[in-house]
Amino acid sequence: MAFASFILYAFLLLQFSIGSHGLEMNMIKPEDDQPRHPSPDLSLNVFFKITDLYLGNKIQIYLASKKDSTPTQLLSKEEADSIPFSLSKLPHLLEYFSFSNTSSQAKAMQTTLKQCEVKPIGGEVKTCVTSLKSMMEMTRHFFGMVKPKVLTTKILSSKHTLYQNYTIVEKPKEVNTSKVIACHTMAYPYMVYYCHGHKGHMTRLFKVALGGDNKERINAIAVCHMDTSKWDRDHVSFRILGVRRGSSPVCHVIPVDNFVWFA
Ligand SMILES: *[C@@H]1O[C@H](CO)[C@@H](O)[C@H](O)[C@H]1NC(C)=O
Ligand SMILES: *[C@@H]1O[C@H](CO)[C@@H](O)[C@H](O)[C@H]1NC(C)=O
Ligand SMILES: *[C@@H]1O[C@H](CO)[C@@H](O)[C@H](O)[C@H]1NC(C)=O
Repeated sequence: MAFASFILYAFLLLQFSIGSHGLEMNMIKPEDDQPRHPSPDLSLNVFFKITDLYLGNKIQIYLASKKDSTPTQLLSKEEADSIPFSLSKLPHLLEYFSFSNTSSQAKAMQTTLKQCEVKPIGGEVKTCVTSLKSMMEMTRHFFGMVKPKVLTTKILSSKHTLYQNYTIVEKPKEVNTSKVIACHTMAYPYMVYYCHGHKGHMTRLFKVALGGDNKERINAIAVCHMDTSKWDRDHVSFRILGVRRGSSPVCHVIPVDNFVWFA
């Protein structure tokens, strides 16, 4: 199903935002580097460490491509604004799109709407946009008078393997930024982007040239979240990378049809 493949991002993002309200028990071992544990769900293996970013290093990651999903309909702002976009309207929306309330589509819509209604965590800017025009308006508001630039990940080969080892074939180039906002596609019957960002240096941005074991080339955009201290303590990336919350930046490649705006 078209939007099932985007559920992953909804899932990852949801965990970014939930945070933990529990008390921190001080049972953490001093050493940072515990063994990595790639997830048996291959599509979760999107994370790497900032110290992995050097010429010649191999990283084993899952990289979703556009081809995994049939195109999702992009609505004009007028069309999108005529459809309610809120969790409280979900029963009405399921009727409107003719989805049963137990279908996977219904679950995906619920996850997306919930995620879009979660309040931002400290210093974060987050919003969901339902059309490209709304995305442009959002960037104008976020960046003010400064005209932002945009980056996307590009797969340069026609054959793409979703999960493999990639060698970093050029020295990674950091992109200087003062503000970054990333817009991720979400599981929904039409195109919805979840955009979240920071002012300041919470996020570092890199251009990384990857060569797959299958010889494919990817010009990837990677983001590193420098401060994970407010993330959910059980965020899947911590186990995969063998790190503790807040102890180490967490990086991932931006999937193909997502945008990173920066200035
Ligand atoms: C799903 O729909 C059925 C019948 O339309 C209804 O009885 C049920 O309460 C609904 N369940 C939820 C979780 O909304
Ligand atoms: C990546 O390389 C490692 C070490 O050579 C190997 O154990 C692993 O199976 C490879 N992963 C994939 C997805 O090919
Ligand atoms: C990034 O900024 C640093 C210091 O502000 C500067 O030395 C460097 O040349 C800049 N890099 C790029 C690619 O603009």
